[in-house]
Amino acid sequence: MGSCVEGIVVMGDRRGRKLGFPTANVRIGPNVDLADGVYAGVVELEDATRHRAAISVGRRPHYYEVGERLVEAHLLDFDRDLYGERIRVEVGTLVREQRSFGTEGELVEQIASDVAAIRVLRAESPMSSRLPGAPPN
Ligand SMILES: Cc1cc2nc3c(=O)[nH]c(=O)nc-3n(C[C@H](O)[C@H](O)[C@H](O)COP(=O)(O)O)c2cc1C
Repeated sequence: MGSCVEGIVVMGDRRGRKLGFPTANVRIGPNVDLADGVYAGVVELEDATRHRAAISVGRRPHYYEVGERLVEAHLLDFDRDLYGERIRVEVGTLVREQRSFGTEGELVEQIASDVAAIRVLRAESPMSSRLPGAPPN
């Protein structure tokens, strides 16, 4: 089964919104057993609502040689600032590895195709298939 990361949403570089894919960023403790990569998953908010998400785990190799290791979640069909809120990120299926790209435009294209792939991924649990962003049956 996937891992789970809980934490307070911290301010990132505020680049995600400009790229078209805003993310809620949470720091990962050193003893969390979770490999870098791009994953499908679910985010639970303080109000107990659950949202499908495209999740990036790692140090943003496109921008940094050795960046801070973060879990970044782009919630599907969601547009609210989550800074300062406690969230729970449930990390599911691995989609690909983290990498760097020739241009920022290529990174954005890749993220768009990750999000499209994650939207059509058959959710493993009956619960997540009823969440917003799930494909119709
Ligand atoms: C689905 C997804 C995939 C991502 N893949 C990569 C990647 O392969 N390499 C990388 O450097 N950053 C990747 N990122 C992280 C973005 O670079 C980061 O979210 C963006 O720069 C915004 O950062 P900020 O939240 O600090 O503003 C990914 C983000 C998402 C949501």
